Amino acid sequence: MNHKILVTGASGFIGRALLPILQDKGFSVRATCRTETSLEGRAAADHIEWIGFDLVDAETDYGRLLNGVDAVVHLAGRAHVTTGHGDATNDCRTVNIDGTEKLARAAAKEGVDRFLFLSSVKVYGEGGELYKNNKIQRLTENDAPSAQDIYAKGKLEAEDAIYNVCRAGTMHYVILRPPLVFGPHVRANFLQLLHVVHRGYPLPFASVNNLRSFIYVGNLCHAILACLVKPEAADQLFLVSDSEISTPDLIRKIAYCMDRKARLFPMPLPLLKMLGKMTGRSNQIARLTGSLVVDSTKIRQHLQWQPPCSLDEGLKETVDWYKARRV
Ligand SMILES: NC(=O)c1ccc[n+]([C@@H]2O[C@H](COP(=O)([O-])OP(=O)(O)OC[C@H]3O[C@@H](n4cnc5c(N)ncnc54)[C@H](OP(=O)(O)O)[C@@H]3O)[C@@H](O)[C@H]2O)c1
Repeated sequence: MNHKILVTGASGFIGRALLPILQDKGFSVRATCRTETSLEGRAAADHIEWIGFDLVDAETDYGRLLNGVDAVVHLAGRAHVTTGHGDATNDCRTVNIDGTEKLARAAAKEGVDRFLFLSSVKVYGEGGELYKNNKIQRLTENDAPSAQDIYAKGKLEAEDAIYNVCRAGTMHYVILRPPLVFGPHVRANFLQLLHVVHRGYPLPFASVNNLRSFIYVGNLCHAILACLVKPEAADQLFLVSDSEISTPDLIRKIAYCMDRKARLFPMPLPLLKMLGKMTGRSNQIARLTGSLVVDSTKIRQHLQWQPPCSLDEGLKETVDWYKARRV
């Protein structure tokens, strides 16, 4: 196989895991990152064609960016934006929505066959109760979105823009909506969780009875690969996850991989929520105590996709990376 794939946001957490997998499969890869300085030395080191690209740059030479490209994997964007104030709102619009639309239009014009966009499960909101009518509530592709924050609303708008561009031409879309992704080089909330477990802080989640979906970055990249090569992926939206686990069990597993004892103690939920409010961490507490479970049957059946790594293997890789970076 010698198809050319353009990966935007290739310097990010997911991008850096995807590049070697694509190379390994014989794809020719063109990768983007924003700053010219971070391009220095990259091409020589990894035999990838690196190119500077900023989604907000009005001067972008899309012909050069997309020339010869068969498929785009669009990862670039502002992640971890939740507030609707000032720069964040602006960035979400110009980078995540307008930038994506411009790129999709240019890709369609340059004859790209497939445009894969990494959206997010957050388009359904933040989750909540685990059970409805005594059954675990699992989100499916047929559920109506209910985006709450600026990031999630931006993802939905960007998805719509891509649908419209593809409907008007011959380019095919694939939209993936993953839950929280973890793995080596993870950042934000998951990295903070690794820190607190490693430091042995006592955590008040022993009696939390929730369930959340996750996906290991290696498994997500494997799913991206399936979406690039399988004809059945064309013009499909997929929820993709590899595991579901409660917060206390996740903490126990992380602690086990770290060779530490999980220091969990029980606290009533109302008290936990009050503590979250008092410390300005209501959102974090809501995520750690609430449920958000994904049904990934569609991608598993439609593309015969199976995650190659188990949750335990993914967590071990992540913790090994974490411990190595601390030395
Ligand atoms: N991580 C998750 O748990 C998760 C879950 C669901 C969906 N997603 C989505 O997956 C995608 C990749 O996530 P990630 O975790 O790898 O994010 P990340 O580590 O923050 O990487 C983001 C990438 O986007 C690039 N970028 C940012 N602003 C840009 C701009 N204006 N123009 C061009 N490139 C820009 C960054 O380049 P620089 O290196 O130059 O900053 C970086 O390469 C994102 O769209 C995210 O919303 C992530």
